[in-house]
Amino acid sequence: MSADAVRPPAPSHPLPGRRPVPVPDPPPTMTAVVTDRYGPPEVLAVREVPVPAPRPHEVLVAVEASSLNALDWHLLTGTPYLVRPANGLLRPRRRTPGADVAGTVLATGSRVTAWRPGDRVFGEAAGGGCAPYAVVDAAHLVALPAEVSARDAGATPVAGVTALQALRTHGRVRSGEHVIVNGAAGGVGTFAVQVAKALGAEVTAVCSGRNVDLVRSLGADRVVDHTAEDVTSTGVSADVVLDGVGNHPASAWLPLLRPGARFVAISGPKSNRWLGPVPHLVRTALAFRRAEPSFHQFTAAPVREDLEQLGAWLASGTVRPAVDRVVGLGGVVDALTEIGGGHTRAKIVVDPSVTGPGAPSGP
Ligand SMILES: NC(=O)c1ccc[n+]([C@@H]2O[C@H](COP(=O)([O-])OP(=O)(O)OC[C@H]3O[C@@H](n4cnc5c(N)ncnc54)[C@H](OP(=O)(O)O)[C@@H]3O)[C@@H](O)[C@H]2O)c1
Repeated sequence: MSADAVRPPAPSHPLPGRRPVPVPDPPPTMTAVVTDRYGPPEVLAVREVPVPAPRPHEVLVAVEASSLNALDWHLLTGTPYLVRPANGLLRPRRRTPGADVAGTVLATGSRVTAWRPGDRVFGEAAGGGCAPYAVVDAAHLVALPAEVSARDAGATPVAGVTALQALRTHGRVRSGEHVIVNGAAGGVGTFAVQVAKALGAEVTAVCSGRNVDLVRSLGADRVVDHTAEDVTSTGVSADVVLDGVGNHPASAWLPLLRPGARFVAISGPKSNRWLGPVPHLVRTALAFRRAEPSFHQFTAAPVREDLEQLGAWLASGTVRPAVDRVVGLGGVVDALTEIGGGHTRAKIVVDPSVTGPGAPSGP
């Protein structure tokens, strides 16, 4: 394929009243994390590939930061097999992990009017973030506030939006209510604790002993170490439960739920290679059919208003992503192996400009 064939089209639709910002032309090729087949993280390689060209509704972003989510592990391993019809039956359609993206727009597709080269943005891509350049649906991006670092923004989209939609959209958390976050030390959980506090709730967070201090530092009022205590036997009661683990049956949760409570499940045990958490979620939904508290299950989507809310919270310091470490492209295999183990601590950010595997972040 010639270099011209992969070059993005020239920027389109200059917006009135906004001066063009000069941006460098993207190179024809880039070094990215890539796979051609389903498998464990070791099937990923760091190699030279063409820079993708944006389709009419997409923009090309120079990636300053991405981060990894359980989603990337599922789409890489092709498990549960349930994900394969949408992601490619024989080989993954998403060849490069990284749904989270923060960076600068370099070029726009022919139908894009909302963005222009030079705009700083963050949002959710259909993979591709573990690379210096990624194409993203223009509708799945929002402006990156000047006060927010690219690394913080890159840590946020999938996990932050999931936490926000779980608690605000589905859990309908109101000020003064009591929220339990099960799985509070993970990517979604560390955002959920802060989102619940931002919505005015009192929070009981469940994590392992090594993460108690982290979760408390995010604002949890009470922390339950699941290796020492079973949250469903502590006598605590709740208006909303966000279950990001699925390690208790509905019968254990129901006695904790107050009148009018909402139970929001985003996950379940992953041992079933065909269906993943689905059998657990179906059993839980059936048990709640005969109960007064309501059951909610959903798949998070990159809703612009939710990304904008998170951007505003990041800018004001109301929410700050908990970043365990920042890695370069060479650190993606280890990071995804850790995520597959189910005990990731907070977020692992990927900065394509970091050479070598990367280093721990922050204090
Ligand atoms: N429905 C959706 O749209 C959606 C969206 C995003 C994610 N998800 C799913 O939600 C789950 C959480 O996602 P994530 O990104 O936060 O995953 P993650 O970053 O990999 O975190 C998983 C967390 O679970 C915790 N954990 C493991 N066993 C636990 C237990 N028995 N009790 C309490 N906590 C426990 C671990 O903390 P400790 O090491 O402290 O135990 C770890 O921090 C995943 O299964 C993911 O697939 C669903």
